[in-house]
Amino acid sequence: MTATQESPTSTAEAPLASASSAASAAPAAGAAPSASADGSHLWRHFATMGDEKPVRVIESAEGCYLIDSEGNRLLDAIANLFCVNIGYSYGEEIGLVAAEQYAKLPYHSAWSSTHPAANALAAKVAELAPGDLDHVFFTPSGGESVEAAIKIARQYFHLKGENRFKVITRYNAYHGTSLGALSMIGIPAYRASFEPMTPGGLRVRNTRRVGRPENETEEEFTAFLLDDLEQRILQEGPDTIALILMEPVQNHGGMLVPPKGYSAGVRALADRYGILLASDETITGWGRTGEWFASSRFETQPDIITTAKGLSSAYAVIGCAIASEKVFAPFREAGVSFTHGNTFGAHPVQSAVALKNLEIMERLDLNSHVKAKEEDLRSTLAAALEGFGIVRDLRGTGFFYAIEFANTKADGTSLTGEQLAKLYGKETLAKFEDEGVIFRLGTGGGIPVLSVCPPLVADQPEFDHMAAALRAVLPVLQAEFDAL
Ligand SMILES: Cc1ncc(COP(=O)(O)O)c(C=O)c1O
Repeated sequence: MTATQESPTSTAEAPLASASSAASAAPAAGAAPSASADGSHLWRHFATMGDEKPVRVIESAEGCYLIDSEGNRLLDAIANLFCVNIGYSYGEEIGLVAAEQYAKLPYHSAWSSTHPAANALAAKVAELAPGDLDHVFFTPSGGESVEAAIKIARQYFHLKGENRFKVITRYNAYHGTSLGALSMIGIPAYRASFEPMTPGGLRVRNTRRVGRPENETEEEFTAFLLDDLEQRILQEGPDTIALILMEPVQNHGGMLVPPKGYSAGVRALADRYGILLASDETITGWGRTGEWFASSRFETQPDIITTAKGLSSAYAVIGCAIASEKVFAPFREAGVSFTHGNTFGAHPVQSAVALKNLEIMERLDLNSHVKAKEEDLRSTLAAALEGFGIVRDLRGTGFFYAIEFANTKADGTSLTGEQLAKLYGKETLAKFEDEGVIFRLGTGGGIPVLSVCPPLVADQPEFDHMAAALRAVLPVLQAEFDAL
């Protein structure tokens, strides 16, 4: 990756000057792993492995805080990878459930037979999912949930005798890294090293409004976006398009909340042209916007929901695709099977853990908490950002906010890739970490965005800590920007 690209959901690594060097601490061949094993054998994901400095080692966690090997306590302002929704204090309670399940049935697939843990979790997911989204296909990740949804859509039309295979996503949207999902996503930089892609990926505009004409109303903006989508459908031929796949609030590019009427408009276009609509709720599901699913918050009924992350608050490796009755119906015909599957999708221990996570979320009533506190989060951030010209936008909903920074100078000239990387890269993230807060900062698509996505148990003390870190670091960032 170049310096201006960033990983989809990871923070940049923060150097720890006092940690031992990777080379010197590498264990001898055949040696038992020891506490000094420093990660030099670990091939980290989306990471620049050639960096000389060792990276931080997180050893424990509690509440909304991560604690590293040096004893530093860091507020996790992005719920790790947008996933630890209940925070870090439920390991013991959940561990007991995992231990019980391990003792009873450590593994069984959900292929030709099933088991109580997957049955119970599927029933709970169906209960919480909107409308008649009642058919739950478990996977080991968000990307595999997306992969499953693409294949469900293609086989659905195959079973109906239609040759629809194309998938529409939006510019700068991230939906996973498997070659199928990757082929559909709107981030050219992630596809570049892996061409050729699977045919059928189409992209349309996303709902980022920064830079649109100042006098454009929200309704006009919505009409503009829906026209772009409809033109794309017509250009491609509606009867070739199987699926429209969108997040209710797009994460990559900075918490792009849909303008009024947009979500309903997309649903209407999908219906008009007989296309299935999938809502990728890998991040936005499970309370992130104060509802079990953000589709409900934006009053859209998708045909398929894809999800993972908060389903178990990342205490387990599990996701799912949830299909409506209409989508499932052809798969219920005698002799038909969805010719797709994997070993770990409905793993009993992962299922039991996810079910316990949902029970904890209900017990804590986290959806109500997020709705009650989202305005406090917004106003605390807004107050901290006041007066900094480098801040272009604060947007989001629930506990899912983005701060967009300037990518142009006052005279309108664009910052170079190097300047973007210098201002909005690892050095700035490290400054926030010096203030005790882990944010995520990226420049995907040339748009500098700081993500704010804390565990859903966060409250005013955590909001205040984030604000203090912003107030400490933004003057430095502003001065660096002004000096360009
Ligand atoms: C919207 C969306 N879809 C899919 C994925 C892929 O999920 P996973 O990393 O679990 O494969 C992500 C990951 O961040 C995501 O944000």
